[in-house]
Amino acid sequence: MTNDLYAVVGHPISHSKSPRIHSLFAQQTGEALEYTAIQAPLDDFAGTVTEFFDRGGKGLNVTVPFKEQAWQLAAQRTARAEKAGAANTLYRDDQGRLTADNTDGCGLVRDLTVNHGVGLAGARILVLGAGGAVRGVLEPLLAERPASVTIANRTLAKAETLVQLFAPEAAGVALSACGFTEPDQPFDVIINGTSASLQGDLPPLSPAVIGIDTVVYDMMYALQTTTFNQWALDQGARHVHDGLGMLVEQAAESFRVWRGVRPRSEPVIEVLRND
Ligand code: ATR
Repeated sequence: MTNDLYAVVGHPISHSKSPRIHSLFAQQTGEALEYTAIQAPLDDFAGTVTEFFDRGGKGLNVTVPFKEQAWQLAAQRTARAEKAGAANTLYRDDQGRLTADNTDGCGLVRDLTVNHGVGLAGARILVLGAGGAVRGVLEPLLAERPASVTIANRTLAKAETLVQLFAPEAAGVALSACGFTEPDQPFDVIINGTSASLQGDLPPLSPAVIGIDTVVYDMMYALQTTTFNQWALDQGARHVHDGLGMLVEQAAESFRVWRGVRPRSEPVIEVLRND
């Protein structure tokens, strides 16, 4: 019997850690599968997806810049993908319908709560950024029932749009929007979902947002400390985490969706840290 085939699709794709992560999951669980990386042409994501499934592929992960296209292309979406407006996981259901899921938010929440032991219920959370990455994680974050979620963004209107969009999910959670310079009190948790560091920038936050117990989480990951986390450490933060655990956790959730088995993430995070 041949192994079931999975892949990650993006452009570029050579840097992706997903094949490594899923191979480690397959080894650990004994699931018979192969997982490769596919670079789709920028103008033919749909053709790449159709071809993959037509030749028997079982599931795809989708990464930059195709997550919104994956969402649009699907014949149906899970509830969490629907609200995220983007999909990182595709598969065909029993009737052959292309189905879109989004496991990014679940990955973030699991990394924070399970791997780092951070309590989100009742927490005051500051989220930086209002792009696709933040939209993708807001619903699972709100479902943890924090006391408040403050979305700060360079372009205030985009943060305000997210507040309106997620108002139904925010019942009982104080959800608000502001500019970066406005918050001036310590938060329990600060999550950086901007891509500012890609341009070598930092959101112009007041150091007052960092308290002695503030947990700082950068959704990006890096071999060394990320630019944002270094800034937080310089302000006295004692609990800083990068997004490597989120990357592994979103993969674990995709694996569970496809195979019905949840792999253990910690040993895989450990291996990747030492790669
Ligand atoms: P992604 O899919 O990574 O979220 P995106 O949708 O382009 O990408 O969103 C990028 C986010 O990073 C946005 O919140 C963006 O702010 P704007 O909405 O004002 O564009 C934020 N961002 C990007 N570069 C930034 C910078 N140099 N300083 C601060 N914020 C930045």
